[in-house]
Amino acid sequence: MAPPDRTTAHPTDSAPSSGIPRKVWFHTFGCQMNVYDTGKMRAQLSADGYVDAEGPDDADLILLNTCSIREKAVQKMESALGGYRRLKRDGRPLVIGVAGCVAQQEGQTLLDRHADLDLVFGPDGVPHVRSLVARAREGARVLDTEFLDLDTYPFVPDVDPGPQGVGAFVTIQKGCDNKCTFCIVPTTRGAEASRPSDQILDEVRALVARGVSEITLIGQNVNSYGLKTPGEITFARLLHAVAAVPGVRRIRYTTSHPRDMGDDVVEAYRALPALTSHLHLPVQSGSSRVLRRMKRFYTRERYLEVVAALRAARPDLVLTTDIIVGFPGETDDDFDATMQMVEEADFVGAFSFKYSPRPGTPALRLADAVPDAVASARLDRLQQRLRERSLAWSRRHEGQVVEVLVEGPSRHDEAVVCGRTSGNLMVNFPGDTRLVGQLVAVRVTRGFTNSARGERVD
Ligand code: SAH
Ligand code: SF4
Ligand code: F3S
Repeated sequence: MAPPDRTTAHPTDSAPSSGIPRKVWFHTFGCQMNVYDTGKMRAQLSADGYVDAEGPDDADLILLNTCSIREKAVQKMESALGGYRRLKRDGRPLVIGVAGCVAQQEGQTLLDRHADLDLVFGPDGVPHVRSLVARAREGARVLDTEFLDLDTYPFVPDVDPGPQGVGAFVTIQKGCDNKCTFCIVPTTRGAEASRPSDQILDEVRALVARGVSEITLIGQNVNSYGLKTPGEITFARLLHAVAAVPGVRRIRYTTSHPRDMGDDVVEAYRALPALTSHLHLPVQSGSSRVLRRMKRFYTRERYLEVVAALRAARPDLVLTTDIIVGFPGETDDDFDATMQMVEEADFVGAFSFKYSPRPGTPALRLADAVPDAVASARLDRLQQRLRERSLAWSRRHEGQVVEVLVEGPSRHDEAVVCGRTSGNLMVNFPGDTRLVGQLVAVRVTRGFTNSARGERVD
């Protein structure tokens, strides 16, 4: 077996395509950053003749873009990897690579554990995927978990050659400089770097030219965009600049940190109609004591102040959040504070998770773990309430006429199309796919937990 190749030079990144058609199968886990990175890998590999395989059986390259945010995510990727590795047994030439956050976190251990794994690289390997894959094809076992220089970070300009939908992600920063004590992302994605705003705007224009009209700006902490780069504009200015690109109808962003939500971003909700009325603002807990132990650097009161300012600027603001239950030391009172927070902040939805201890994170040092059964019971109670709230919110739209940006045919019925309101309610209504990309007026007839039904009005 060849030893892992640790060279960091990337000689073939700009070499011309060999012209041989090859097939790649991507399996993407985790957050929007990974979805975006997969698109960037697809774009770069297409220069070497790679097209999407129909399925893993038909691929000569399989890339798993992995997530390690919670233990469960890692288990899911391990079981998928097991299946893909079995495909190698029929002796056909197949390169298997693990990319993303688990790759960064485990590195060499992954290669040691799986003798038939060819390639392991972290998120900072994405800009060099062509040379990494080329070396693996030549028979080397390749490991690349080096973090790249932040000042010259090579954000990939190529746009995913696959079909574009109505909405697209655009990355504005990489990494994260926060140190929330539960979180592995700073380890897997490294320090924060802001992407130059002229590159961001170029990508927005390229996407609009391909029919995209809703841009979601992505990063782990978008509110801190530009602050550490001399001469760069702020996140609020960036929102204005994106809104000024002709053809951009809607702007969303994710994820923002409550501590860094500045007055200028709040103001943007007054100034920019294209900025949607849905905001995802992770709170994590409603207890200031727990927030302190999480090192989130805001209190319950501060979070509610930010929300009040946002609602003053945008009265129809729709708020969703992330919540962790069972963080070490969380008492019944702390959890009750979270349940109350759901009401006070008027969350209409949330991603909620049981705390999962992650390797190397500061929270591992905290004593008083919450028993699993207690954490599960809390999560059930929270999710039950969130479902009720989500349904109530959706039903509040019944009888109203809303503006929907049509995204495509519904998954269940070809005569039905679906799209979202600015507040992010998914609405299905009878209609033709020629409406895709248009803003249409729809009367909501029935609200459900995660969507609504409606009919077009003229
Ligand atoms: N940068 C984003 C979050 C990225 S991770 C932010 O700061 O909001 C997405 C979500 O996963 C987090 O908001 C948190 O709710 C959850 N999460 C992160 N680490 C976790 C862990 N160790 N256990 C359970 N949930 C976790
Ligand atoms: Fe993780 Fe906190 Fe950074 Fe979000 S802000 S990615 S939760 S460390
Ligand atoms: Fe997961 Fe990495 Fe995203 S750990 S949530 S894929 S940043």
